[in-house]
Amino acid sequence: MLKIENLHAAYGPVEALHGINMQVQPGSIVGVLGANGSGKTTLFKAIAGLVRVTQGTAAFNGVMLSNQTAQSIVKQGVSLVPQGRMLFPEMTVLENLEMGAYLLNDRTEFGKRLEAVQTMFPILKERAHQMVALMSGGEQQMLAIGRALMGQPDLILLDEPSIGLAPKIFDQILATVRDINARRKTTIVIAEQNVRKILKIVDHAYVLESGKVAISGTAQQLSGDESIRRAYLGL
Ligand SMILES: Nc1ncnc2c1ncn2[C@@H]1O[C@H](COP(=O)(O)OP(=O)(O)OP(=O)(O)O)[C@@H](O)[C@H]1O
Ligand SMILES: [Mg+2]
Repeated sequence: MLKIENLHAAYGPVEALHGINMQVQPGSIVGVLGANGSGKTTLFKAIAGLVRVTQGTAAFNGVMLSNQTAQSIVKQGVSLVPQGRMLFPEMTVLENLEMGAYLLNDRTEFGKRLEAVQTMFPILKERAHQMVALMSGGEQQMLAIGRALMGQPDLILLDEPSIGLAPKIFDQILATVRDINARRKTTIVIAEQNVRKILKIVDHAYVLESGKVAISGTAQQLSGDESIRRAYLGL
């Protein structure tokens, strides 16, 4: 389980998260919602060890993450799929997938993982030797998720996968997210601004505002909440 208590994080002297509390049950899909600048990415970076935590803790399966390096957090089974995907555009699809398993030395295990990812995303096999820059946005998002899966994480932090995607392609990505969660039992936390679609696939969600949790609850509770309906669902 991911347990975040009173988490504060800062960029230099400027604090961006002001005491986040959050719990994610194993095997669940949890949403982190909120407008631009509300702190979604900062929260993911703080969990992944990529931004300075100034107060509070993040723990995964009882192991404290907030005093570890980014690399050792990956070794704990936590994988970030960053906003904007952050692929290596001049490298091939296969080379990008290899980067996702850079901690692995076992060729047999590597082959197994690659096959599983390529079965889930056949396009990543068909285009294995194509340069990433030539892939579409949706294909690149699949590759970013595939790269994370190569590390066989227990927890995936998926940051705004919808960016730059047509609604239909985003729906495909969400279907894949559900599939990964159902088949691999991977816990998934997904940050998004598309509240309507996210509330359909998550068990629980947190709405951030100015670096704090404004409201949280089950998808059903949030869908029924008057302020959420007005602010985010246009109802
Ligand atoms: N590298 C940085 N240096 C300084 N401040 C930053 C940096 N990145 C983000 N911030 C600030 O931290 C706050 C939270 O930003 P963050 O990127 O976490 O929001 P977000 O919810 O992910 O937004 P978006 O939906 O636009 O991705 C904002 O006030 C932002 O200006
Ligand atoms: Mg963001």
